[in-house]
Amino acid sequence: MAKDGEKGEWKEFIWNPRTREFLGRTASSWGLIILFYIVFYIFLAGLFALTMYVMLQTLDDHKPTWQDRLSTPGMVIRPKADETFEIVYNIHDTESWDMYAQALDKFLGPYNNSAQAQKNDECVPDKHFLQEDSGDVKNNPKRSCQFNRTFLEECSGINDRYYGYHEGKPCIIIKLNRVIGMLPGKDGQAPFVTCGAKRYRVGKDEWREDSEKIGELMYFPPNGTFNLMYYPYYGKKAQVNYSQPLVAVKFLNVTTNQDVNIECKINANNIPLGNERDKFAGRVSFKLRINTNTN
Ligand SMILES: *[C@@H]1O[C@H](CO)[C@@H](O)[C@H](O)[C@H]1NC(C)=O
Ligand SMILES: *[C@@H]1O[C@H](CO)[C@@H](O)[C@H](O)[C@H]1NC(C)=O
Ligand SMILES: *[C@@H]1O[C@H](CO)[C@@H](O)[C@H](O)[C@H]1NC(C)=O
Ligand SMILES: *[C@@H]1O[C@H](CO)[C@@H](O)[C@H](O)[C@H]1NC(C)=O
Ligand SMILES: *[C@@H]1O[C@H](CO)[C@@H](O)[C@H](O)[C@H]1NC(C)=O
Repeated sequence: MAKDGEKGEWKEFIWNPRTREFLGRTASSWGLIILFYIVFYIFLAGLFALTMYVMLQTLDDHKPTWQDRLSTPGMVIRPKADETFEIVYNIHDTESWDMYAQALDKFLGPYNNSAQAQKNDECVPDKHFLQEDSGDVKNNPKRSCQFNRTFLEECSGINDRYYGYHEGKPCIIIKLNRVIGMLPGKDGQAPFVTCGAKRYRVGKDEWREDSEKIGELMYFPPNGTFNLMYYPYYGKKAQVNYSQPLVAVKFLNVTTNQDVNIECKINANNIPLGNERDKFAGRVSFKLRINTNTN
């Protein structure tokens, strides 16, 4: 009996024919609840859309509204070393270095003089190429300066199509990551790249560096400078044809058959080297090893 009663109660809870209640509520009560939620969600969606609309109105297509205040740009090298940042090859094994030469060919394609002449302007060197907007009048699209492949001379791959790899005098190309609005070089002193031995840890408190193994270096353009005319950079949308300036470093007499740990860094009088927050900003390090054994 008790069981039957319970069952009946449940049935009545789901649908009570006497009071015409479904799950304890009448149809109009359910209707009101559903209506309330529909109105509530429409209101939320409207609020969201309105907020997005107002936010988007404040955005400028050509300039980021918020940008991480990264005062020092990152640096990368080409040919792209793998995750371990190693350039290792054997002079006598063409296959081991040909991929580096091919990677450089590909990377430098857009810097061909003909391509640069078509896309970009010959700018006045040694000064910033400013193209500011005047108030709300956008000065877009903005022009960019030519960086001709031939500026890299012996590292351009034009006269020496293997970039020195085949004779143990490899070229490494360095570029700075783009930072919108960065104006490096105060008082007309252009930033420049220097490469040297990287200090590395060998024991708990023991450090070493390969200074004697690096040998003589040559930089292209001369002194490894990034000319001021390539700055500031106004962003991908405003400055569509921008070509990042490059610096090539040629290792003329690096010790062979040994690991050589190298670090290159940017020197500029107004961009601080990586601080605690960005240990790697403004510098890049890699291992170079040129083997000469023939077996
Ligand atoms: C750039 O020039 C080299 C020869 O100077 C040519 O082989 C290569 O195809 C060119 N690349 C582009 C992208 O025009
Ligand atoms: C780049 O190369 C082109 C084609 O050879 C030449 O007309 C132009 O003057 C060069 N640009 C610079 C800045 O030297
Ligand atoms: C970008 O390069 C194209 C040719 O590739 C040229 O027609 C165009 O005028 C250039 N635009 C700017 C803003 O320099
Ligand atoms: C390279 O640096 C040296 C010494 O600082 C300077 O005398 C020379 O004019 C520089 N060369 C170029 C092309 O900037
Ligand atoms: C190359 O470096 C070696 C030492 O690693 C040195 O003995 C030699 O004189 C250097 N050659 C040149 C041309 O500088």
